[in-house]
Amino acid sequence: MNRSQKQRLIQRYGPMAVVTGASSGIGQALAIELAEAGFDLLLVARSKNSLEAFADELTIDHGRFRRFYVLAADLGTTEGVNALIDEAQTLDIGLLVAAAGFGTAGTFTASKLETELNLLEVNCRAPLILAHHFGERFAQRGGGGIILFGSLVGFQGAPRAAHYAATKAYIQTLAEGLHHELKARRVDVLACAPGPVRTGFAARSRMRMGSADRAETVARRTLAALGRRMTTAPGPISKFLTASLMTAPRFLRVRIMGQIMGGMTRHLS
Ligand SMILES: NC(=O)c1ccc[n+]([C@@H]2O[C@H](COP(=O)([O-])OP(=O)(O)OC[C@H]3O[C@@H](n4cnc5c(N)ncnc54)[C@H](OP(=O)(O)O)[C@@H]3O)[C@@H](O)[C@H]2O)c1
Repeated sequence: MNRSQKQRLIQRYGPMAVVTGASSGIGQALAIELAEAGFDLLLVARSKNSLEAFADELTIDHGRFRRFYVLAADLGTTEGVNALIDEAQTLDIGLLVAAAGFGTAGTFTASKLETELNLLEVNCRAPLILAHHFGERFAQRGGGGIILFGSLVGFQGAPRAAHYAATKAYIQTLAEGLHHELKARRVDVLACAPGPVRTGFAARSRMRMGSADRAETVARRTLAALGRRMTTAPGPISKFLTASLMTAPRFLRVRIMGQIMGGMTRHLS
């Protein structure tokens, strides 16, 4: 990011951001960009050790006078989400990056229902509660930003990632509505809808990815789109796949997605 891009971000959304999913992948890449832009950060994920090591690195890179708080919380639980809200209570936060999430893949009925319910909690319930809380808080403080994470798979059904795609469709729809609703109250809401990105996501969801965008690229393009767009497909591969898919009618997109996901999950039941 150049100087004026950094200035735009800190002036509109500073002085502090909360980033969920900050221990890995896209969330971590966004935290690095935000630290470089001058933000203090509240870093959230389950793995305390990774978060603390990351916060130490940020402190070395950006100086002892900046504040990088760490909160180890499971956002699949009510206690975890409440802990985040409590921790944020006295901090002057102007930006929420809700990147924590994971995927499930393979035959839907072969997956444990418990895992799918946890997916719903982490991918939908937590961002819903956080958008509700911070949306009102930002509006009352006179402005702010919210980045929610959809996915390319959220624009249509995705056989062999059916429930994951449904969680992302939920987020996409929520973000689109909030984008317009909160604009009048000076809160910018962005749906980030990546295609494949090289992160820890594929290993946890047991998908096999071919070509994929880099998390750093996704982070930079996402921040550039905040306050300017409703949705971003942040990366060359994301953009190409989105543009190609969107020319097809929805029933055909579902079939194409089934072929793509079939290739990425051939090794699973
Ligand atoms: N990578 C892709 O291809 C891709 C494509 C489209 C959309 N996305 C979306 O982008 C977002 C970021 O994913 P990523 O690619 O960066 O994956 P990642 O590298 O696996 O990172 C996921 C992050 O979420 C955190 N997390 C997972 N479960 C959590 C829980 N229960 N409570 C708190 N934190 C939790 C993880 O930390 P801990 O494990 O330490 O909790 C980690 O920091 C996700 O919403 C994902 O669905 C990714």
